[in-house]
Amino acid sequence: MRKKIIFNWKMCGDEQYVSLIQNKFLEMSAPLSNYDFIICPSFTLLHHFKELPHSISLGAQNCSPESSGAYTGEISASMLAKTNCHYCIIGHSERRKYFLEKESDILRKMDQLINNNIIPIVCIGKFFEDNNYIKSIISNFLGSYAASELILAYEPTAAIGSGISDSLYSIEDNLAQIKDIIQGKISNNKKLSLIYGGSVNENNIKDILNICDGVLIGKASIEMDLFSGILNKLI
Ligand code: PGA
Repeated sequence: MRKKIIFNWKMCGDEQYVSLIQNKFLEMSAPLSNYDFIICPSFTLLHHFKELPHSISLGAQNCSPESSGAYTGEISASMLAKTNCHYCIIGHSERRKYFLEKESDILRKMDQLINNNIIPIVCIGKFFEDNNYIKSIISNFLGSYAASELILAYEPTAAIGSGISDSLYSIEDNLAQIKDIIQGKISNNKKLSLIYGGSVNENNIKDILNICDGVLIGKASIEMDLFSGILNKLI
C-alpha cells in the first residue's frame, strides 16, 4: 500500500502559503510520486488549490453531523462533496477538547461523510482509553455497504503539538490492538489505513512510516522550512 502523508493545517495558512506549497509539489512531484499526499487546509483555502499533481488530494478538517438545516456556521458533508475535497478529518482531539465534540457526534459525522463519498480520517487516542469508541468506528465502517475506505489516525493527545512523538513501541502496540479487532473481518472491497499523528517531523518520519500506513502532520506542515525538511526526507 502506498504510504499516506496527511497535512493538517489547522487554523493556519493563507493564499500565499497555498501557492508556495503548490509550487514546491510541482517542483518535486516526480521524486515524491510513491506517496499519497492529502492536504487539509481551512475551508476557505480549498478553492485556491489548482493544478495539483496526481498524487495530491485535498481534505477538510471537520463537517457537520447533520445533513442540512438551521445549524448556523456548520458545513455539511454534501457541501464538501461539491468542492475539490475527497477526505475529511473528524474527531481531532482539539475539536474534542475545545468544542466538546462527543463520540456519538463523530460517529454521525462519519456516516455523513460515507453517504457523500468522502473518505473519513477519524482520529482516535490510546487503545485502552478509547477502546469502545474505536470498536464502534470499526463496526460502522465494516457494517456500512457504502463505506469503501477509512483512515484511522492514532493520535495520543500528549504527543500532539508537544514536540515529543509517541514511542515507536507504543505506536506499534496501539495499532496492533486495532489490527486484532479487524483481523479476518475486512473484505476485499474495503480499504483501511492505520496511520499515526503527533509531533511527526523530519527526524522521525521515516521510522514511523516503517511501522504504519502513513502519518498525520500538524505543525511541521504549517511552517515552510519544516515542511521542506519533511519532503526532502521522503525523497
Ligand atoms: P502535530 O499535530 O504534528 O503538530 O503534533 C498533529 C495533529 O494535530 O494532527
